[in-house]
Amino acid sequence: MKLLVTGGAGFIGSNFIHFWVKNHPEDQVVNFDKLTYAGNKESLKDLESNPNYRFVHADITDPTAVASAMAGHDIVVHFAAESHVDRSILGPGVFLQTNVIGTQVLLDAALKAQVKRFHHISTDEVFGSLELGSSEKFDEHTPYDPRSPYSASKAGSDHIVRAYGETYGLPYSITNCSNNYGEFHFPEKLFPLAITNLIEGKKVPVYGDGLNVRDWLYVQDHCSAIEAVLLKGKAGETYTIGGLKEDVSNVEVVKKILQLMGHSEDMIEYVKDRPGHDRRYAVDWTKMNEELGWSPSVTLEEGLQRTIDWYKNNEAWWKPLKEKAQGFFQQNYKSL
Ligand code: NAD
Ligand code: DAU
Repeated sequence: MKLLVTGGAGFIGSNFIHFWVKNHPEDQVVNFDKLTYAGNKESLKDLESNPNYRFVHADITDPTAVASAMAGHDIVVHFAAESHVDRSILGPGVFLQTNVIGTQVLLDAALKAQVKRFHHISTDEVFGSLELGSSEKFDEHTPYDPRSPYSASKAGSDHIVRAYGETYGLPYSITNCSNNYGEFHFPEKLFPLAITNLIEGKKVPVYGDGLNVRDWLYVQDHCSAIEAVLLKGKAGETYTIGGLKEDVSNVEVVKKILQLMGHSEDMIEYVKDRPGHDRRYAVDWTKMNEELGWSPSVTLEEGLQRTIDWYKNNEAWWKPLKEKAQGFFQQNYKSL
């Protein structure tokens, strides 16, 4: 099989390419990535000499580059996006451009190239915010209700993918998954920021009262879920993917990290809340489990331990990224 992976130099994309090359060594993988601040070729250095892997440095909003890369591919796995909610609050324009227009450019080229499957990676954030303390969960039938520029742009991309399926018959699938964590995660998101701050002797910023709830999915488990959808899932279907069954608040999960890294709770710094901060996400992944036989393979504690060990052993990967992100950190955490 020939896979075109967009955004493969980012967090989930690079993990997915490693996963796919390891488990399907006969397949050819092209990684199409613009290398924004979030893209990093270092994450795939070990594959540079692999004859079945190729990197294309280009932008998904560029129709010529996309058409040329798309030709001859069976499957598209579309990760490329602007992905950080806080950056979308500071500057929404590029989120609309990349996440909505970029997706539409890819869809046009995928139709023309007659790909067998266009798989779109989306997020549980498109469903909005659940009440704290309720037992409600997002599933494949939950109505869309995005509340940040990031989630609104991802909702727009989901709608345009489905529209190409219904209108032009494009064979697509969509997964809406929860917060991923693990290796190669840019150190601006909560887990890698917390872990790297603690390694550097700095405190962990927790927004608001810290009681917001997220569902946490170890990135390797997300990769195996995408594999299940590509190999066993049906075209025209959507699947919601999560990693947990119970709620865990941000402050609880930060306390777990502190405990695993041998720090006291004094290392928590409560800071100003994110504007429009979604209160609670929870994901029902029954369809993934019952129809495709998928379930997460690690507990949150196991996944966290692996992630902490990786950041401890890979300072050369994350230190330069954190240096370069100083401007963003100063703008985002003005009160610190
Ligand atoms: P990331 O920010 O780490 O990586 C994004 C990648 O896309 C980078 O390599 C970047 O260079 C590339 N990119 C950005 N704009 C591009 C453009 N115009 N053309 C080509 N490449 C471009 O993102 P991530 O966390 O790996 O997320 C991947 C996908 O998964 C996104 O679509 C995101 O919305 C979705 N998602 C992420 C999570 C999560 O927890 N990280 C959860 C649910 C869904
Ligand atoms: O739910 C899936 C989404 O998860 C993905 O679609 C996004 O691409 C991904 O970035 C992630 O979004 P979140 O906003 O949930 O992730 P983030 O790591 O930024 O924040 C997780 C929670 O932690 C959230 O409630 C905000 C809070 N937070 C975050 C940061 C960066 C803090 O309390 N302090 C922080 O410094």
